[in-house]
Amino acid sequence: MKILVLMGVLSHLLVAVLADSPKYKPIVMWHGMGDSCCNPFSLGHFSKFLEEQMPTVYIKSLRIGNNSIEDIENGFFMNINDQVTLACKLIGEDPELKMGYNALGVSQGGLFLRAVAQRCPSPPMLNLISLGGPQQGVYGLPHCLYPTHEICDYLRRVLNVGAYWSWIQARFVQAEYWHDPMNEASYQTGSMFLADINNELQINTNYSDNLNRLRKLVLVKFTEDTMVQPKDSEWFGFYAPGQASTVLPLQKTKLYIEVRTSNFFVNIGSPESQEVGQVESDSADSWY
Ligand SMILES: *[C@@H]1O[C@H](CO)[C@@H](O)[C@H](O)[C@H]1NC(C)=O
Ligand SMILES: *[C@@H]1O[C@H](CO)[C@@H](O)[C@H](O)[C@H]1NC(C)=O
Repeated sequence: MKILVLMGVLSHLLVAVLADSPKYKPIVMWHGMGDSCCNPFSLGHFSKFLEEQMPTVYIKSLRIGNNSIEDIENGFFMNINDQVTLACKLIGEDPELKMGYNALGVSQGGLFLRAVAQRCPSPPMLNLISLGGPQQGVYGLPHCLYPTHEICDYLRRVLNVGAYWSWIQARFVQAEYWHDPMNEASYQTGSMFLADINNELQINTNYSDNLNRLRKLVLVKFTEDTMVQPKDSEWFGFYAPGQASTVLPLQKTKLYIEVRTSNFFVNIGSPESQEVGQVESDSADSWY
């Protein structure tokens, strides 16, 4: 099972970040695509593992929907901006979280939790761990986990044709973080989620300020990941514009070079920040 492999490889890292104070801070988790909050084989199992490592820790695994089926479906079909608003509400209403919390997101959940950090600074997110979160989006859906395969094939065709058409943006989660390197301009103007949280078109200084409030941002890249294309997106890298084979690390992307002046990336990717431990990068060999 995927999470079992992951735990073996990463447990030391996760526990080191999550348990860095005598009284454990609560943990908010957000599941990945095709999964749900409480699946006993993934996040449910993972919660148990963390509870064993940190007895008495409070864990909230976000359920986006009234039940687990809706939670899975909303991971494909509920506008991400609405999901983030709902997540902020669930976090804001929970008295256990009011002194701050650590966040741990799997796959697209790692990207969505960064949006929570940027848009909803209160209560404060203290540390964010993104396990394979596509921080610069995806271009391809090679390993779609939806129970019926036809949906994945359909989605892939739709996204290739019109990911940035507004009716598709409004309805398909993966369109909202679809990043087409052949069409950077359409992406910047058409993406209603990713282009916004990455400050592509306009600089939202609140996003920079809030992101920089995190004590640690841990971006875990799975070196064998087949689900996120390109996998470098998990470390904020992406394809060089105009093609889909050469990948640039964050520091070489236009986003970094231009947006850096806004301080958005001041703590991400610079050599200074890595030296002082603001950003920890780790990669694991196995995922699925
Ligand atoms: C919960 O159920 C209500 C009533 O059916 C529905 O309107 C709402 O969209 C559901 N919530 C989510 C987040 O799917
Ligand atoms: C930034 O945050 C402040 C204070 O919460 C708010 O008043 C302002 O509207 C926000 N700006 C943007 C661009 O969201």
